[in-house]
Amino acid sequence: MPDILDWSGSDLERLELEAFEGRSNEMAARMREEVAAGRLPFLSMPYMDGLLEQLDGLQDYLAGFEHMLLLGIGGSALGARALQKAFFPRQDQPCHDGPWLWIADNVDSYALESYMAKLPPEKTVVVTVSKSGGTIETVGQYFIIRDWMRGRIGDDWTEHMLLVTDEKAGFLRKEADENAIRTLPVPDNLGGRYSVLSAVGLVPALFLGMDVRALVDGAREMAAPLADPGLDGEALAKLPSFDLAVWANGLMRAGYDQLIFFSYIPLWASFGDWFAQLWAESLGKEGKGSQPIAAIGATDQHSVNQMFLDGPRNKACLFLTCPTLPAGPRFPENLPDAFDYVRGKEFGELIQAEGMGTRMALQKNGVPLVEMRMEHDDPRQAGKLIALLGAATILAGWLMDINPLDQPAVELGKRLAKARLGADGLPEETADLADFLTS
Ligand code: PA5
Repeated sequence: MPDILDWSGSDLERLELEAFEGRSNEMAARMREEVAAGRLPFLSMPYMDGLLEQLDGLQDYLAGFEHMLLLGIGGSALGARALQKAFFPRQDQPCHDGPWLWIADNVDSYALESYMAKLPPEKTVVVTVSKSGGTIETVGQYFIIRDWMRGRIGDDWTEHMLLVTDEKAGFLRKEADENAIRTLPVPDNLGGRYSVLSAVGLVPALFLGMDVRALVDGAREMAAPLADPGLDGEALAKLPSFDLAVWANGLMRAGYDQLIFFSYIPLWASFGDWFAQLWAESLGKEGKGSQPIAAIGATDQHSVNQMFLDGPRNKACLFLTCPTLPAGPRFPENLPDAFDYVRGKEFGELIQAEGMGTRMALQKNGVPLVEMRMEHDDPRQAGKLIALLGAATILAGWLMDINPLDQPAVELGKRLAKARLGADGLPEETADLADFLTS
């Protein structure tokens, strides 16, 4: 596999030798064990063959709609948005004539009302994505949209609904069974932020016209060595995901507790939001972790980059580039002398030059940096990136001795919000809330 990581901006060897010598054997053994027990479908992808066939069977159905309204939050939405923005960027521009994907991933009354006011229900499929099947932000939207669809379409409303949820449990599963609504499964042990390569991300990608097999193939190529039953420490130590995990851990120990995801592929900027969730929700535990920060070149050169360059020396950087970004239009010849340096050049050269300038400036200012080189128009590369960063996150968590697959801390706020709304069965939270509100 050609190397997509350029390490020349950081000293991996030193970090590796100082901090993690010898842990590759232990990590390889853990990987073998987790994969064999079926606890890492993100890397072993046992569900993939069946799923791709199911998606083939869905293609005609999806082709009958012009609009897809996706209801989901967190890992149930961010991967789909990253793929949409990266590969179907002109959706919000006048030249676009469909299909349209709308992602409703917040409790946003304005957005929900405008979808109901503007979307033609007869040409719209509503895809509700929730692994647990009970997330109130998502299911709450579902209740409202279900009524809207029923009211506008009548008895055929279920034909406009697709539920992506757990195979057995949860409200949405029950809803699907009771109303004979189409469903696709989110496999066991595949948590939200690791689920973009399941129906969660692939259904919207397919609707938009993406070559989902290429996406999956890229991910498989990257993940296959990790899922190999013969994986040993030596083989693991050669993999880029392990290098990244070691690098991030070494830096965390040295006080670099912020990790910038700086995209100089403008259209891939939403992968920064996807990565921020993946990294933060997986690794922010027990007082450990590094805070991910999503940044976009060139926009953030004129904003937060000042802090990256000359603020506290606690930042490392994943720097995303593409050697073959679109050339774009040419600068005209009739420019004032002060702009001589761009006369006749292509617009795309500007972003490339700015990327190089920013990369060098970061390095000169002591920001450890790994460059990730991708082909911006190749779904296979996006699949590789997803698998690489997902695997690196899991390995980083194990090296930190925390569980990268759960998210216990975020549950508290959710329980308190439910108690605030009067939900039953939360006596402790209800009492805490009463104290909090009166103190
Ligand atoms: O990564 C995670 O597990 C979370 O961000 C979930 O994706 C998010 O909370 C939504 O959960 P669900 O898909 O169960 O509605």
